[in-house]
Amino acid sequence: MIGSSVLNLLDYDEYINERLNSLKNGFVFNDVHIYFRNTFKNQDMYSYSSNEFDIENKILNKYMTMIKDRKIELEKTDYSFHNFSYQIIDDPSLFIFNQSKFEIYILFKNTSKYNKNAYGFLVFSVKKEKSVNDVKKHITNNHHLEIFLEELNNFKYQLINYNKVFDSIDQFTEILKIKYSYMPYHMNNVANLALEMATKLELNSIEKINIYFASIIHDVGKIYIPAEILNKEEKLTDEEFEVIKTHSEMSCQIATNIFSGIDVLEEVPKYTRYHHERFDGKGYPDGLKEDEIPYLSQIIGICDAVDAMRSNKPYAGAGTFENIVEELKRCSGTQFNPKLVPVMIDVLREVYDNKYYIDINILKYIPNTSLNYINKLTGQHHTILGNLNHFSSVMKFGFEDKNMLKEIDSLESIMNAKISYVYLDNLYEYQIQLDSIEDNQIEISNLIRIPSDQLFSVNWVTRGDLILEMKSVPVMIFRIGAKGLGFIVDSAIGSQILKNKIEIGNMRFKLEVDSMSEVFNVNIRMIRHYLFNDDYRFIAEYENIPENERDSLYKYLFKKQIREKMIIEKRS
Ligand SMILES: [Fe+2]
Ligand SMILES: [Fe+2]
Repeated sequence: MIGSSVLNLLDYDEYINERLNSLKNGFVFNDVHIYFRNTFKNQDMYSYSSNEFDIENKILNKYMTMIKDRKIELEKTDYSFHNFSYQIIDDPSLFIFNQSKFEIYILFKNTSKYNKNAYGFLVFSVKKEKSVNDVKKHITNNHHLEIFLEELNNFKYQLINYNKVFDSIDQFTEILKIKYSYMPYHMNNVANLALEMATKLELNSIEKINIYFASIIHDVGKIYIPAEILNKEEKLTDEEFEVIKTHSEMSCQIATNIFSGIDVLEEVPKYTRYHHERFDGKGYPDGLKEDEIPYLSQIIGICDAVDAMRSNKPYAGAGTFENIVEELKRCSGTQFNPKLVPVMIDVLREVYDNKYYIDINILKYIPNTSLNYINKLTGQHHTILGNLNHFSSVMKFGFEDKNMLKEIDSLESIMNAKISYVYLDNLYEYQIQLDSIEDNQIEISNLIRIPSDQLFSVNWVTRGDLILEMKSVPVMIFRIGAKGLGFIVDSAIGSQILKNKIEIGNMRFKLEVDSMSEVFNVNIRMIRHYLFNDDYRFIAEYENIPENERDSLYKYLFKKQIREKMIIEKRS
């Protein structure tokens, strides 16, 4: 399932555009255009142009047809260059670009025994007064072009391998999930944080691909660590810690198997191996320090630590934004590269400000998404788990459990569809339109973000006690606002609440800011719930909250926001 998003992760557009620009520089070519067809899914076509304007797909399709019909006889009259054949065309009726003097076609063909179809072509327009010989000389002497063609050719094979890569990652994730249920979130949180960091640090697209894969897979070696150790809440013994420490080398080994033969990802195993090295040299496995640690490993390391800080909540107040910022600053220059710390804080600020959302144009794979809808006929509320894939221009929701598809009789019976996912304790909700069902996927469109601010205002991770029908259960509150709050309970309690149709309860929690602290006791009404992995997340509104209690709550929320701002400004 994850495989279909491969092109998105690769940031293919960025990659091609970077190359096209380097190709055009110092060239006689005025325009360069690539038409590239995905070899597995014929419906997905990619075209890239060095120019502002975009050639319509139908024109390109016309060219593909002409090539097929042999109107453009690439095989008979072509020249060859570095294993590629090209043809120079001077018939204006065949030109793609206006005002071309010549157009040069380079065709990409499959070479397998079973499939010799063209999967794309590159077309150059020459507008200046050049002769055929000039053009030929320019092509055969062009080193940029040679490299580019080779890269494009490799890419085609790499795309095929990526499918296998994703299959392996999927399988490992499934096993890891059984051992340690937080793992899929952790992988994804670290990968997303690392991508945000990579963007802020202006890494190139190849580095981004590498950091993405290395973060996704960084802890895969934990597959060899006993579940008791992975899930232990108390402090680990020295022996247990030694066992844990083996995982980064194991991850490296597994990554070596997964990524072997994919040139562009050859370094991924190395980046995973060093994700627990520390800037001061006190990390493991090799005790590398400062620049000895690969830069991408340093980035993954800080993202990994941040996700651990916020998910590890041994006491109330841990894992909050201010707490993480303080911890990052405290460990700047020891655990972390001091140059990365302010960048990480910037990224976190955006995350905690709720500025992070699925940007439709930034294509990503989002696991553990939940699809919520109401069945029009029965009025029942349904939650289905799956993954969100952004493929080309289409968003697809894939079911985790393929049998769930049966639950949906027809798209017409669905009302009020929403998808939601959790990223770093924030719940992101989108209203969606369901377009079609195919295979195990639902195509969705018209994502409209439901602002969480309507109900909530501050990310505030703290423990609470929920009193339900006289019984008290521990919960983890993740967001608190003036009108309501969000909290997490484990699946046993969550399913009990739903089974018994419990809607109201009483929540007790303590808020602490600076030297102020107060215990709140409010009646709540559950209005929505989401199932994420093993946790249920409930969103509740306060009921009949006394005026003075609400005022007091406002005071705390306000203080908390001021406090977070101060922490940001305090940073050097
Ligand atoms: Fe790790
Ligand atoms: Fe990790």
